[in-house]
Amino acid sequence: MTSHAQYYEENLHPLQDKILKTANSLSSPFYLTGGTAETTIQLNGKEIPVRMKAILHCDKNWGIGKNNSLMFRLPKDMSFFRRTTKGKTVVMGKNTLLSLPEGKPLKDRTNIVLSSSLEKDGKSGFIVASNLEELKAVLSRIDNEEIYVIGGAMTYRLLLPYCDEALVTKVDADGNADAFFEDLDKNPSWELVEEGPPEKDGEFTIRFYRYKNKQPRKL
Ligand SMILES: NC(=O)c1ccc[n+]([C@@H]2O[C@H](COP(=O)([O-])OP(=O)(O)OC[C@H]3O[C@@H](n4cnc5c(N)ncnc54)[C@H](OP(=O)(O)O)[C@@H]3O)[C@@H](O)[C@H]2O)c1
Repeated sequence: MTSHAQYYEENLHPLQDKILKTANSLSSPFYLTGGTAETTIQLNGKEIPVRMKAILHCDKNWGIGKNNSLMFRLPKDMSFFRRTTKGKTVVMGKNTLLSLPEGKPLKDRTNIVLSSSLEKDGKSGFIVASNLEELKAVLSRIDNEEIYVIGGAMTYRLLLPYCDEALVTKVDADGNADAFFEDLDKNPSWELVEEGPPEKDGEFTIRFYRYKNKQPRKL
C-alpha cells in the first residue's frame, strides 16, 4: 500500500512564502459573505467566478483509499497531479492533510484545509476553513480562480456539486478500498467528455478521464 507520504513526497516542503503570507493574512476572524451569491474574486479589476474541479485517482469500484492511505503507487498520475495543481489553490479535508508527511501542506500551491478541529494559527502554511461558508469566504480572498479539490472522501462528497469538472484517473485494479468517490457514470448530472487510452503506470494500467458537471451549483 502506498501512503500519501510516499505519493506526494516530491510535492512537499519547504513551505512557500506565498502560502505563508496568504495564510497569515487570512488568520484574522472571517467576515462571512453569506447568502447565495456566487463566490467571485477580483482579478485585474474584474469580478471572476471561482471555478472548482475535483482531481483524484480511483480503482475500478471508484475506491480512493484504504486505512487513510492511497492504494497504488502511480508515478505518471502523480506527475499529472503535480503539473495540474502547481501554482493553484488546493482544498483538502483534515484526514488527507494528516496523511501527508509530517502533516505538512503541498508546496507551490495555496493549501486550504477543511476542519472544525484544527487551530487557525496561520503559522502552519495552510489555511483552515471550519465549514463551507468559511471556505467560500477564504476562496473569495485568494488571487487564484482555479481551485482543485484533492480529497478525501468526505471532502469530495461535500464539494462535488460545486465542481464544474472532475479529473479522474481510473486504475484497472481492485484496491479493496474503504473510502469511495461517487460513481459519476451513474450520476445523470455528470457526463464523460474525455477518455484517454489505457497506459502503463508502474505496475498498473490507468486511463485519464474528464467528466463535466452539467449544472454545477454556485459556490
Ligand atoms: N485517490 C485519491 O485521489 C485520494 C485523494 C485524497 C485522499 N484520498 C483518500 O481519502 C481517504 C480519506 O478520506 P476522509 O473522508 O476520511 O477524509 P478527508 O475528507 O480528507 O477529511 C475529513 C475531515 O475533514 C473535515 N471536514 C470535512 N467536511 C467538513 C466540513 N463541511 N466542515 C468542516 N470540516 C470538514 C473534518 O475534520 P474535523 O474532524 O477536524 O472537523 C473531517 O473529519 C484516505 O484513504 C485517503 O488516502 C484519496
